[in-house]
Amino acid sequence: MQPMAQRINPPARKQPIRPPVGHEHTGRVIPRHIAFIMDGNGRWATMRGLQRSVGHKYGREHILTVAEMCYDLGVQVISCFAWSTENWNRPQPEIDYIMRSTEKHLLRFVHQLHAKKIRFMHTGSRHELPESVLRVIDAAVELTRSHTERIFNLVLNYSGRAELLDVARQMLAQPLPAEEITETAIDARLWTAGLPEVDLLFRSSGEQRISNYMLWQSAHAHLYVTDNHWPVITKQDIEQGIESYNRSVHQERRV
Ligand code: FPP
Repeated sequence: MQPMAQRINPPARKQPIRPPVGHEHTGRVIPRHIAFIMDGNGRWATMRGLQRSVGHKYGREHILTVAEMCYDLGVQVISCFAWSTENWNRPQPEIDYIMRSTEKHLLRFVHQLHAKKIRFMHTGSRHELPESVLRVIDAAVELTRSHTERIFNLVLNYSGRAELLDVARQMLAQPLPAEEITETAIDARLWTAGLPEVDLLFRSSGEQRISNYMLWQSAHAHLYVTDNHWPVITKQDIEQGIESYNRSVHQERRV
């Protein structure tokens, strides 16, 4: 039987997060949590006659730039979908490249987060991830544990359905009586427990799909899709996503 997906550092996620930030002078609401589907590294490279790995390199280097744009606007939590459980079906050389480069560059990336007092988290199953990558993830979580204001959540080896199955199994194992199976009880057992719900689900590269990402957490999220590929996402793209989110917030308030 497959072992159950493991929760990562659950107590560390329990810290409260500030309420949403609103810019009163413009009436603009800044989403508290933006979850990115970072799509299009491969296409961006192929369109330029480059190898897909070059797209992954530029995409990886662009993560901090995009995160900083968001934090500067007042966003508190950024979740970046870097690897899904379905991505293990990719060609082995591409898997090897992504895992090796994550191991090699993650700690430098996290030192940059640490210098800006941003906390690093990992959401995903630890199974299948190479031991060397897990060691770097654990070191990164430890290094930034004391920061509470802003969070960077690397979603690596994740599946929304696997997460919900894990929640169901946790409840069954306890066992939890039926009347105690509530939304709050599920929230508390998610791999993202303690993080606020996703307000804005932002996808690059044009496809209007959820891709098994944060299924429970995005129940009330606004979906924004841009045609631009991840390595070239700009501040204007982020601003447009936030404008689109604001239009839906205002529409919801009118009804
Ligand atoms: C999707 O593009 C993007 C990825 C698979 C990103 C992977 C990135 C990481 C694992 C970087 C994490 C590392 C650090 C140091 C933060 P795609 O390949 O799906 O593009 P395509 O849709 O055009 O094929």
